[in-house]
Amino acid sequence: MEVKIRQINDQELGDVVRIQEAIMQRRVAPDWLNLVKMQISKPDGISLVAVEEDRVVGFFFGEVKHGAFGLEHSGWIEMFGVDPKDWGQGVGRALAFAAFKRFLEAGVEEIYTAVRWDSGDLLAFFKKIGFNLSNFINLKARLE
Ligand SMILES: CC(C)(COP(=O)(O)OP(=O)(O)OC[C@H]1O[C@@H](n2cnc3c(N)ncnc32)[C@H](O)[C@@H]1OP(=O)(O)O)[C@@H](O)C(=O)NCCC(=O)NCCS
Repeated sequence: MEVKIRQINDQELGDVVRIQEAIMQRRVAPDWLNLVKMQISKPDGISLVAVEEDRVVGFFFGEVKHGAFGLEHSGWIEMFGVDPKDWGQGVGRALAFAAFKRFLEAGVEEIYTAVRWDSGDLLAFFKKIGFNLSNFINLKARLE
């Protein structure tokens, strides 16, 4: 599949919602759209779409963090999705590699993300594009 990867523009927010809803098979909450808008406005954000002809088929939102978790510069994948109709055709890889290039240009050498431990599919995808276990573990506490 021939896709072009480029910076998202504001008119494409609706496409991002459409793709996310197709992935989740339910409506997205207004909060989610607000998160996307916030993500796009971050000065160190990397916000990309994959376009086939005139159709948006995937999105990638990430950012460069400075000093987070004791790391000098690090790249983080925040939200990433491909239209389910177009899975398995290299769109996710094309988006990820375009983002890797941007991260490298921003002086980042390591990229992080978090995946549910029981999401075998997603882990397989990330492993295919070069990810492995990081030297962090995620912790959580529930606040009453
Ligand atoms: C994960 C996701 C982005 C992959 O996109 P995609 O366009 O289908 O991936 P690609 O076609 O580029 O696949 C790249 C490689 O990963 C492998 N891969 C992709 N999806 C896979 C899956 N579900 N199970 C196993 N391997 C998978 C492909 O086989 C391919 O390997 P190959 O090069 O050896 O053939 C897409 O499935 C998706 O949007 N999932 C739901 C949203 C999500 O969970 N996002 C991540 C949260 S941040």
